[in-house]
Amino acid sequence: MKVIHSIAELRQALGSSPRGFVPTMGNLHEGHLSLVRQAKESMNGGPVVASIFVNRLQFAPHEDFDTYPRTLERDCALLEGAGCDFVFAPSEAELYPEPQGYKVTPPTELADILEGHFRPGFFTGVCTVVHKLFNIVQPTLAAFGKKDYQQLMVIRRMVAQMALPVQIIGGETTRSELGLALSSRNGYLSEAERAEALRLSRTLKAMIARWQGGERDVAAIEAAALQALRDAGWAPDYMVLRRQRDLGEPVEGAPLVVLGAARLGTTRLIDNLEL
Ligand code: PAF
Repeated sequence: MKVIHSIAELRQALGSSPRGFVPTMGNLHEGHLSLVRQAKESMNGGPVVASIFVNRLQFAPHEDFDTYPRTLERDCALLEGAGCDFVFAPSEAELYPEPQGYKVTPPTELADILEGHFRPGFFTGVCTVVHKLFNIVQPTLAAFGKKDYQQLMVIRRMVAQMALPVQIIGGETTRSELGLALSSRNGYLSEAERAEALRLSRTLKAMIARWQGGERDVAAIEAAALQALRDAGWAPDYMVLRRQRDLGEPVEGAPLVVLGAARLGTTRLIDNLEL
């Protein structure tokens, strides 16, 4: 596995062979590694590039950009074990040599709801860096985790609307034995919080149970979930039942998904489950 820091060197090393791509912000866990394995398999063993770049553009000023864990050496060892061929780990000066004035702004109906509502500008930051990384890596296929459900949807739409020649694959969420969705931010949790963190997926499951039990008052289902988390000391941003296709209001017969985001102590966790 080669670790490359410059765009020019990456382009030279990759040549013209088709490649798969897994963009990350590092501090990797099993969820990222399963995306690398999935990309490798989908490329029939062809080369896979993983990028590691903590993208300032997608962090609000009060968020954890400065403290986000940078663990390059450990990440590279894990990536090598997962069969990754190239790691692209640019510095900020390499990726943003001048302030990134050109940006990719996704449509409000998809990007200003849920995560985008609570993290204004987040999806513009994500789309801008992903579009730029696609231009640099020029992958035929790229893998993103379903844990960031809305992000995956926003990127799929960008690729479709911009006619980018890349196939997007979505990897299932990897969970701990007890059901906690793996996330780089889980590292911020204390031991007690780690156990409590399971309440987020349990509350999403309770929402599903009410819907599948025949209840159709979506506002009541969502309000009960918010209250359950508040009662346990959480500060939830949203707990919602939506259509899988476009995250619109649920309609009978359409495949649905429950999504939630909530702060436990100082750590913001997100999760979702498809019905
Ligand atoms: O999901 C992430 O880790 C990031 O949002 C991504 C896609 C690597 C863009 O910085």
